[in-house]
Amino acid sequence: MAVLPILRWPAPRLSQVCEKIGTIDAEITRLAEDMLETMYAAPGRGLAAPQVGLLRRIFVMDIGWKDGAPAPMVLINPEIQWHSDNVETGDEGCLSIPGVTAGVARPAEVRMCWTDLSGKAVIETLPGFAARCAQHELDHLDGLVTFDRVPPEQRAALEAAYSP
Ligand code: NI
Repeated sequence: MAVLPILRWPAPRLSQVCEKIGTIDAEITRLAEDMLETMYAAPGRGLAAPQVGLLRRIFVMDIGWKDGAPAPMVLINPEIQWHSDNVETGDEGCLSIPGVTAGVARPAEVRMCWTDLSGKAVIETLPGFAARCAQHELDHLDGLVTFDRVPPEQRAALEAAYSP
């Protein structure tokens, strides 16, 4: 396993749509392991492939490891099947935009489907911070960062305060 360098916004690869993954081969398994190691080392609770420069639809997350035992998740080709009408605004940081916290409005609950590292199809309803984290990481696979999820005035202020 290896800790990979994390791209910082405005690296162009953070604004591109990632490609679906076909076969989960040794390369993808290695990538997932490296991404988890990179996320824990950062330290962070989520990391998407474009953040380490690979334009593939995979992200890792572990929302609770800072407070308890690690529970790593690897989500391949994730999609949102359903989201609640209830929207909540919460603070989000991003390993690719260090030092910036943005208040982002998102559905409070989502049902997401994905393929895990063993190739099994998974469907889970994610509440609370898990929903927020998963939506943030899924955004990365579509070339979106927190700056793209806030109103223009707020974006301008956040960008002004950010130094890569
Ligand atoms: Ni991020």
